[in-house]
Amino acid sequence: MSAALAYDHRAALYSRVSRVIPPLEWPSFADDVDAILALKRERNAVVLAHNYMTPEIFHCVSDITGDSLLLAREAQTVQADVIVMAGVHFMAETAKMLNPGKMVLIPDVEAGCSLASSITAADVRLLRQRYPGRPVITYVNTSAEVKAESDICCTSGNAKKIVESLGVPEVIMIPDKYLAANVARETGVKIIAWEGACEVHERFTPRQIRTLRAENPGVVVLAHPECPPDVVDAADFAGSTAAMSDYVTHRQPGRVVLITECSMADNVAVLHPKIDFVRPCNLCPHMKRISLGNIRSALEHLQHEVVIAPDVAARARQAVERMLAV
Ligand code: 13P
Ligand code: SF4
Repeated sequence: MSAALAYDHRAALYSRVSRVIPPLEWPSFADDVDAILALKRERNAVVLAHNYMTPEIFHCVSDITGDSLLLAREAQTVQADVIVMAGVHFMAETAKMLNPGKMVLIPDVEAGCSLASSITAADVRLLRQRYPGRPVITYVNTSAEVKAESDICCTSGNAKKIVESLGVPEVIMIPDKYLAANVARETGVKIIAWEGACEVHERFTPRQIRTLRAENPGVVVLAHPECPPDVVDAADFAGSTAAMSDYVTHRQPGRVVLITECSMADNVAVLHPKIDFVRPCNLCPHMKRISLGNIRSALEHLQHEVVIAPDVAARARQAVERMLAV
């Protein structure tokens, strides 16, 4: 590429994120962005990015972006040889089980999730013994081993629909106690929950929302259903990260606050320059392990490949595919 073209190309990329990345910071990202775009072509790779990725990842190097549900759906039909999951480990595992012929890479193997680490496959077997006959609905924020012990999966985008689809009076729903409590209030189905929680969303409080409203008159409050029920009650709307993004797109509130992980507001704000985003910042330390630097290394060295034992993958896939079929 000529120097002039390279300059234009970098300027075009920067214009996508200039609302949220200061001009002084951009040069520190530009080389990695260029290298990743070249490596994707060389490796025949795609980058799938969750809504919580930082904007230089989300807007400058990703091919498919969205919530857990969309990333799972899209992973199924990826044609490229390599999938890099810019998200956390369970998302990479889900992509691998749905498209087992592809090489799935996670840029940092330590990118976990407090929900996924709150429960093991042995815990699920014990729950089944304790509550025989109740179907087990498992949030996708879990390991492949836990999914393998489950009847069906759900995400924050379809939890209510999945619970109701089973047509039974009582279910086990793991591992997020708050998601379970929020869904239980919307259905007539009794839910047996687990004690897990998201370390990011459990920190929000109703008092914080009251303060945000007092300091930002007219602000519309959108909350993720991993928040405690009293926080959801204090919000104007609750939904998955994709549902929050759609709300902003379709309703165009003048001023909005997203009660969820910090980077999400940056990513949505880029698309809606006229909307005023109020930004409390709770970071997910696991999501924040993913950077341009380790995405670049993943593509350069084809590291760290996600491998799932075939018998676990087969059973876990069944639970995820049942969800996708609802
Ligand atoms: P979504 O499925 O709503 O994107 O949520 C995933 C997640 O990890 C939320 O903390
Ligand atoms: Fe897990 Fe919470 Fe981080 Fe989502 S935000 S990956 S649920 S710890």
